[in-house]
Amino acid sequence: MCGIIARVGYTDAVNELMVGLKNLEYRGYDSAGIAVTDGTQIDVCKTHGEIGALRSALKARSLTGAVGIGHTRWSTHGPPTDANAHPHTDDTGRVCVVHNGIINNHEALRTELQAGGHTFTSETDTEVVPNLIAAGLREGRSPEDAFRDAIERLEGSYAIAALIEGSNTVYATRNGSPLVLGLGEETSFLASDVPAFLEFTDRVIYLQDDDVAIVRPEGFELTALDGTPVDRDIRTVEWDANDTSKAGYSHFMRKEIDEQPTSFRQTIEGRTADGTVELESLPPGEFADTREVVFVACGTSLHAAMYGARLFHRRGIRATAIRASEFAHDPVPLDDRSLVIAVTQSGETADTLGSLRVANETDARTLAVTNVVGSTAAREADDAIFIRAGPEIGVAATKTFSSQVGVLALLAERIAVDTDADPGNPAVLETLAQLPEHIQAVVDSPATAQLAERYRHADAYFFVGRGVGYPVACEGALKFKEITYDHAEGFAAGELKHGPLALVTPNTVVIALFTGRNDHLTLHNVEEARSRGASVIGIGPESSTDVQAAVDEYLSVPSVHPELAGILINIHLQLLAYHAANLRNRAIDKPRNLAKSVTVE
Ligand code: G6P
Repeated sequence: MCGIIARVGYTDAVNELMVGLKNLEYRGYDSAGIAVTDGTQIDVCKTHGEIGALRSALKARSLTGAVGIGHTRWSTHGPPTDANAHPHTDDTGRVCVVHNGIINNHEALRTELQAGGHTFTSETDTEVVPNLIAAGLREGRSPEDAFRDAIERLEGSYAIAALIEGSNTVYATRNGSPLVLGLGEETSFLASDVPAFLEFTDRVIYLQDDDVAIVRPEGFELTALDGTPVDRDIRTVEWDANDTSKAGYSHFMRKEIDEQPTSFRQTIEGRTADGTVELESLPPGEFADTREVVFVACGTSLHAAMYGARLFHRRGIRATAIRASEFAHDPVPLDDRSLVIAVTQSGETADTLGSLRVANETDARTLAVTNVVGSTAAREADDAIFIRAGPEIGVAATKTFSSQVGVLALLAERIAVDTDADPGNPAVLETLAQLPEHIQAVVDSPATAQLAERYRHADAYFFVGRGVGYPVACEGALKFKEITYDHAEGFAAGELKHGPLALVTPNTVVIALFTGRNDHLTLHNVEEARSRGASVIGIGPESSTDVQAAVDEYLSVPSVHPELAGILINIHLQLLAYHAANLRNRAIDKPRNLAKSVTVE
């Protein structure tokens, strides 16, 4: 959802800005641009298309300057044209801005600025920002005051970095969109996310809403919007820069699928000791008062939450998973015994943060389950549990789903024991501990690639499952449609006969998921589809010979506790989507119209 970067130092900034943009490309790839200054004038180069197009455009220019800003765009206001690409300048070219988010009152501000004689060249909401700053300068304010005053006028969500002609300073702030300050030896960075500059520094400050960072080569100042100094901790990021490179893989998605034995091990490491669940800052008994759990999440994280809710049900705990885009504006009643769990890989998804904020205003307790230490969700929830999956760059989430489900399985066990809903299930904890080696077996299986080839010409792909297999079916379909652009849907197996069966033809492939629980019922549903001519690929435990005999193809997973079999089955689905997309030559890591981190509602 747009990535911004700023770099401040003594040597030329262009190369590091371009590295930063490449590392942020997963946030949007409709257009890209940079602006640099040597302390006097500002030079801008921007173009529609991906970072490669910007690199080509730069070859024809001689942009140099030790201080600069950059942007990679996921379009919200105006199509992905050169004119709408960031950075945006005011109509004199003195002020230059990159922005991630949405300025809600941009129309009113634009009308006001136009009445004052400002002219606009783009259709973006962003262009009002440099013009507002320039208006302040024209009225005689200092650059810093002009910046602060302009920001005061904005309504909406934003992370903004600005250059102002005549100085080698970057002015930056945020409200509702992420912004991290990176502190190197002689170079500082600001970016939407840590991977942007991780190869240059691992010392960071996560800025908070309304913080203003004024960054110069010789140092930085942090203040509130009204100028009062603020103090924020400097943290050292544990991720390694190699974790954010492709390491010889042709796609991040494939690398991240293959990383799952390790990432899942990291997720559960030290958390399943002696048959009990250890959750760092949340000691046993912590959830004793919880009477119901409400999950809020989007996309893949919603599917992990739906999976989690089913695990909670199995432990006798009331739980519901609700789409965050719905909950934020139509919340369910909560009280002081409700626990609202925001599941979000990035910790920055606007819909999920909106829901978290709604819950924070009630008596409910809130908990973030996230991958990003220092993220907004982690800071705003009462507590946070980190999934420890390592950085995920591919837009299609893979390893983080497995790790989210792993953490939710641990939480289900813990809350069951804390609330006396259930004595807990040692078999689940044992399975969790063994899962990394089973995940390895699935990742190593060549069978999925063969099936992707055999069924590549189908009209539609329907994924069906029941119990924990249902959210996995939804996740399998999401992954498949996101990166192949083919028609894929996920259904509860028992719902096929209530409508979707009307769509089933001999050119439909049904991918049926069997966890080892209630499989005989799913087999009935599969038979309904097969008798209409559909081909059926079954995925389930290697021990289920009756299922294998009843389907056209079978992908097996090691036989594990049925509650956790969905994690293994899902890895076959990740690989199926990956291979199918590869056969269709799709932009696997950057599917059209999508972005990894969606920071607007
Ligand atoms: C976007 C991404 C999805 C992701 C969802 C939620 O839609 O394209 O891959 O699952 O956001 O993201 P989160 O960071 O909150 O898990």
